[in-house]
Amino acid sequence: MALYSEKVMDHFRNPRNVGVIENADGIGEVGNAKCGDIMKMYLKIDDDCISDVKFETFGCGSAIASSSMATELIKGRPVHEAMQLTNKAVAEALDGLPDYKMHCSVLAEEAIQSALEDYYQKHPEKRPGA
Ligand code: FES
Repeated sequence: MALYSEKVMDHFRNPRNVGVIENADGIGEVGNAKCGDIMKMYLKIDDDCISDVKFETFGCGSAIASSSMATELIKGRPVHEAMQLTNKAVAEALDGLPDYKMHCSVLAEEAIQSALEDYYQKHPEKRPGA
């Protein structure tokens, strides 16, 4: 069996939503201290929906594939759904990652959480329960 699924290879070779959003509503940057990889997410939010999302990842192929898939999973979705995106869901959508590469999908979850936190800090009135 191949180490990486076709979906991982596809998103690694042709990552979706790469880039920067000028005047993003939320920006999150996270890194993994062990491997040194860094992921940055930009969110545009309109009417409590993720109207656009872009990422920059300086990291391994699994991190690039995870960021790409994560952006696809939250684009056009309500903010509260994006909040609940887990690394497990990202890995499943990629038809799996090798165990020792699961931490790469964690970066995608954390980058989105961090971008949403940035958004809520700028717009505290939007925070659930505020
Ligand atoms: Fe660190 Fe993939 S090896 S994110």
